[in-house]
Amino acid sequence: MKKRISAIIFLLITCLSAAVLSGCGNAGKTADTAEDENLIVVGFSQVGAESDWRNANTLSMTEALSPENGYRLIIDDAQQKQERQITAIRNFINQGVDYIVLAPTTETGWDTVLNEAKAAGIPVIIVDRMIETEDKTLFKCWVGSDFRREGEKAVAWMSENLTGPLKIVHLQGNIGSSAQIGRTEMLMNSLEDHEDWSIVFQETGDFTQAKGQELMEEILENNIDFNVIYTENDNMAFGALTALENAGINPGTDITIISFDAGRRALNLMLEGCINFDVECNPLHGPRVQALIEEMEAGMVPSKYTYVEEETFEVGSLTKEMIDARGY
Ligand code: AHR
Repeated sequence: MKKRISAIIFLLITCLSAAVLSGCGNAGKTADTAEDENLIVVGFSQVGAESDWRNANTLSMTEALSPENGYRLIIDDAQQKQERQITAIRNFINQGVDYIVLAPTTETGWDTVLNEAKAAGIPVIIVDRMIETEDKTLFKCWVGSDFRREGEKAVAWMSENLTGPLKIVHLQGNIGSSAQIGRTEMLMNSLEDHEDWSIVFQETGDFTQAKGQELMEEILENNIDFNVIYTENDNMAFGALTALENAGINPGTDITIISFDAGRRALNLMLEGCINFDVECNPLHGPRVQALIEEMEAGMVPSKYTYVEEETFEVGSLTKEMIDARGY
């Protein structure tokens, strides 16, 4: 009998302890969930990982929209395919995210899916490149670069610094993206004012290093005569430099190299004299997107368009200290 009573007491204590412990556990879980529930959920449809610029941009978004700052960021890498971005946006809508951030591959083709986001009441922020749409209510705001202005800066430098007939190899970014459209448009316009400038080769290298190298090898194999490379991003420049160097040609001296992005790797190559002029395209949009969301959270209406200030870099005046002071 005594044994039976002890066994019952033991069982009771065990159950009570378990209940208390599981209660603590539950309390912990509830706290976690509550914390999660307080986070602002952002679905970010990113173009891909095609360039150093893009990777710096993804990192900037991840650092700014972090749990410590009150966010849960869901990133979808579209591998430079618009269909994938459309699917990602639909998934974000189904998940009921609080905001959608879209870095669009191309300018056109967004109306249907953005109308779906609008119908679901999810605010959309466009970042980096622009979209083309009649209905400006499909997105709350945009932050990014003025790609035409970037192209203008490159062309102005060529005009002021290069003489004689220019035989230009033009490596384009992915066709239909704002970065390609703006940078290409300004180069093409400049031909009207410069009779001795001509494009001897023009093709897309999709903003990638591999394609930049491939195209430059093709140009060299076909003995195309050129003295300038206008490459619409640094990564294509890196590929082109490799092909030139493999062929015993000195980039920066035998051939003038003009590029866009001005990332650290490119600026270090400029210090070595391999790139002549680089127009900055600033990828650090994370804190800017964060500020826009915070304005909306506070019930404010953010500026519809925010253009980022960007500078240019030139061989000869660039220093190591200038590179070290930069954020990417
Ligand atoms: O839209 C910005 C452009 O996209 C950058 O110039 C390029 O490097 C990136 O892939």
